[in-house]
Amino acid sequence: MDIKELIKNIEKIVPFENAFEGDNVGLVIGTEKEEVQNIIVAHDLTLELLEHCLSKEINCVIVYHPPIHNSLDFVRFDNPYTEVVAKFLSYKISVISLHTALDASSGGNADTLAELFKLDEITKFAYTNETSAAGRIGKIKQIVPANFLTEIENVLNTKVIRTNKFYAELDKINTVALLPGSGTDYLEEVITKVDVFVTGDISHHHFLLADVSKIGLVQISHIASEIPGVDKFCSELAKLIKVNLSYHKPIFYG
Ligand SMILES: [Fe+2]
Repeated sequence: MDIKELIKNIEKIVPFENAFEGDNVGLVIGTEKEEVQNIIVAHDLTLELLEHCLSKEINCVIVYHPPIHNSLDFVRFDNPYTEVVAKFLSYKISVISLHTALDASSGGNADTLAELFKLDEITKFAYTNETSAAGRIGKIKQIVPANFLTEIENVLNTKVIRTNKFYAELDKINTVALLPGSGTDYLEEVITKVDVFVTGDISHHHFLLADVSKIGLVQISHIASEIPGVDKFCSELAKLIKVNLSYHKPIFYG
């Protein structure tokens, strides 16, 4: 199987057209003609991952976060911003990124979170195209705020949780919005729709905005919110292809 054939199979699960416009998904390093030996799925392209690929004869990485965000002015080995890309390129290891295509696709990261938190009457927000979106809104079985935090810790296997001040004033939680990764750009879309918004990477400014808007905000570990969906993607892809595939689960920050 070559990279072109692999991408065909990936797109049966994660159509790249479901990514936000301008998101760098698809084949970012390599050529479609390369024959795939072994595949590893990872969250980020790192030098540690490169060592792993070299030791296990892996010549294809499916990476969640795109390793190249903007146009590059140079690809130097002696620059920390481009060293990783340069090295994967020099070792001819192909790199395919999924990012928001996986978040928004049916059964992807957002749906996986909705399933884990048993959301009911689900609607979408943060649309990436006419039908796909990176966020999910829904009803949950009524819960008190303290218990909801414990549930998040258990479901996402994380201890890194911050809340805004207003969260402590909530009496009960009935409705939540979930967005894997960094979702605060979409806070205003859910502000009048839910009791609590759960996402990663929340800034001080957004905590203050949520306080005055009287919505609970829960910041979770960025990576912890993405692991369940990536895990599911690996299982789905493994059913479609015969090449050996493994998931390099990150040592994440909480
Ligand atoms: Fe992310």
